[in-house]
Amino acid sequence: MKNVHFDTSSVHASGHNSVKSVSKINPIYQTSAFSFNDLDDLEDYFRGKNDYLYTRMNNPNQNDFASGVANLEQAPAGVVTSSGMSAILVGILAVAQVGDHILACDDLYGGTYQLLSDDLKSFGIDTTFVSFKDLDEVKRNIRSNTKLIYSESITNPLLRVEDLEGLVALANEHKLTTMIDNTFATPYVLQPYTKGVDLVVHSATKYLNGHSDVTAGVVVGNEELIAKAQAKMIHLGCNLGPFDAWLASRGLKTLSVRMERHISNATELADQLKQTDGIKTVYYPEYVSETGNSSIVTIELDENSSVHTFFKSLDWVHIVPTLAGVETTVSYPLGTSHRSLPAEACEKLGINKNVIRISVGIENIEDIVTVFKEAAKKALIQ
Ligand SMILES: Cc1ncc(COP(=O)(O)O)c(C=O)c1O
Repeated sequence: MKNVHFDTSSVHASGHNSVKSVSKINPIYQTSAFSFNDLDDLEDYFRGKNDYLYTRMNNPNQNDFASGVANLEQAPAGVVTSSGMSAILVGILAVAQVGDHILACDDLYGGTYQLLSDDLKSFGIDTTFVSFKDLDEVKRNIRSNTKLIYSESITNPLLRVEDLEGLVALANEHKLTTMIDNTFATPYVLQPYTKGVDLVVHSATKYLNGHSDVTAGVVVGNEELIAKAQAKMIHLGCNLGPFDAWLASRGLKTLSVRMERHISNATELADQLKQTDGIKTVYYPEYVSETGNSSIVTIELDENSSVHTFFKSLDWVHIVPTLAGVETTVSYPLGTSHRSLPAEACEKLGINKNVIRISVGIENIEDIVTVFKEAAKKALIQ
């Protein structure tokens, strides 16, 4: 820059991108917009020649994470969002509009239940919650305006494994779209798109990122549905920030090794807790897929155990209302994730005051088993 004052040159002194070398790791495109040399250059964007215009719409870090998850789920396309909840919202809005009906399983994550039962109702989208244990019951509830069947591949917190093939067959018979929250399973364990599910959604806040330092969501599916979901994401402004997208992409690199350890630890912990006094039920699926099982273990304490003492006795394991970090943590579904479910619904599902969800970390399994066995012992009411 020539012939400008110091205060002008200081504004423009730095920030020029002159790097020709290719960095090993994708840089963080921490920018709200992209610049153009001239009007032809700008027009090229709309002709599809330049990739980026404005970060609310699209950004290299968002794309990197979206295409990474789409690859792992073996789906053609994906869009990332600011949270799991916004990913669920834009996925649903890609399919359903005012006057439409959704059929959802009755054992959903509490936030999703609230979104469907309250918020989407005020958009004119109605939801019926039914037990998906019986597909005939699901079929009986299909209406002429039903558009979407919604469930979770492994449900939160009681770890029911969804019959994806059965749901897809039913949906195809009635020309309905299917959407599955694959947060608990992750594509390491299950890839619902390969089984015919149309939209697969994640709270990437959980295992995909894996380090409890990002809130993010992602939905994958075919190009057409994802283009619709992306349009909703842009209009609602629930885009993921570049740094968070970059962190989440970094998390993906270790998904496989983390899941392997999470799952082997969870399998061992579930076995050990089945033989522990003071624990009435261990919820742990017998089989999810040939790659692995659940990395969450949910337990119900005996009536003659004190849940307060159990939580207080967990030594280095903290109560955290999330899951999927590398640290073992526990949560209290009745007090957090499922607080918004009506009390009768929780009771019917078996989510009671003695139910504890364990997010099994990647620490040494002997230490994990010891801490839970000792807490169960202390919690026994003498
Ligand atoms: C299964 C499941 N889906 C979706 C969500 C919502 O995700 P987020 O908190 O990233 O919005 C959660 C949050 O706990 C969850 O457990």
